[in-house]
Amino acid sequence: MNTDVTRINVAGERPYDVLVGRDLPGALPALVDGAARAAVLYSAPLRARAEAIAAGLAAAGARPLPIEVPDAEAGKTVEVAARCWDALGAAGFTRTDVVVGVGGGAVTDLAGYVAAAWLRGVRWVPVSTSLLGMVDAAVGGKTGVNIAAGKNLVGAFHPPAGVLCDLDALDTLPPVDLAAGLAEVVKCGFIADPAILDLVERDPAAAADPHGAVVRELIERAIRVKAHVVGADLRESGLREILNYGHTLAHAIEKVEGYTWRHGHAVAVGTVYAGELSRLAGRLDDATAARHRAVLELLGLPTSYAGEWAGLLKTMRVDKKARADRLRFVVLDGLAKPGILDGPDDALLERAYAAVAA
Ligand code: GLY
Repeated sequence: MNTDVTRINVAGERPYDVLVGRDLPGALPALVDGAARAAVLYSAPLRARAEAIAAGLAAAGARPLPIEVPDAEAGKTVEVAARCWDALGAAGFTRTDVVVGVGGGAVTDLAGYVAAAWLRGVRWVPVSTSLLGMVDAAVGGKTGVNIAAGKNLVGAFHPPAGVLCDLDALDTLPPVDLAAGLAEVVKCGFIADPAILDLVERDPAAAADPHGAVVRELIERAIRVKAHVVGADLRESGLREILNYGHTLAHAIEKVEGYTWRHGHAVAVGTVYAGELSRLAGRLDDATAARHRAVLELLGLPTSYAGEWAGLLKTMRVDKKARADRLRFVVLDGLAKPGILDGPDDALLERAYAAVAA
């Protein structure tokens, strides 16, 4: 088996490891130990990878149950989850069996939710194939599906038994998706690990080269940030909120745009906005605020948005993270010093928007 694997532990009631490396599916049988059946959820573009994983599971003694689901958000629905539960029922899936999700964030969110609800919770393992999925969705146990009223409104906190971040998958990831995923990595740089920002500034091309060592280091650093945060606060009752830096505006942009914007692109704009809001609230120095735009632009990520402010503000108010009617923003009180801005004035919010308005 491949020995060049980084293991990042996530603490909590049921601690688990995130494995980062190449040629990783060989590590899967150890994670599904004792399972007689393993459902493998995947979307059509990843059929070959899922078949190889299923063959490995079969060789290890777990009967694979491949379930093809629609790609991306189209698969993250209650109807698709119900279809998966029907398949588990037909296969006689028991409490000791395991669900494996092979794909990006949408497929792993679905797989986790299918596992969370089946028999009130069975083991699951995300095999993450996108950079965004590796640094965000696959780690931390947030699982769920979308409903007409909004994204991720139905779900469960259900930490996985382990996570595989197979860097081989990045070789075929479109460069635009790789760069979009880096927006979440940069966010981790601002809230917790400034070495991420130094790495991007030193060599932005290397940061976006899927074959290089820099992208691996960036992924591992971002996963360490997330692992630390969710290990301390699985249920988002405190610290975990800092992961939402840049996300309040980002979610509003995604919604206003009918989810045609990539999440990472919206996060890039939202991160610049959060930096500016921190500065205007008198909490962040000018240079660190300006660094947000500079770093994201080095990666070719969007840092401005041509949308009408009133619509964005209205959308932010119905974000599920708003409490009562007050908006809450994660801001910075200095580099890597996240804090909360609770109930800011609309005028301040609008002034910060001028920094990203195209
Ligand atoms: N994506 C933010 C979180 O997992 O809490």
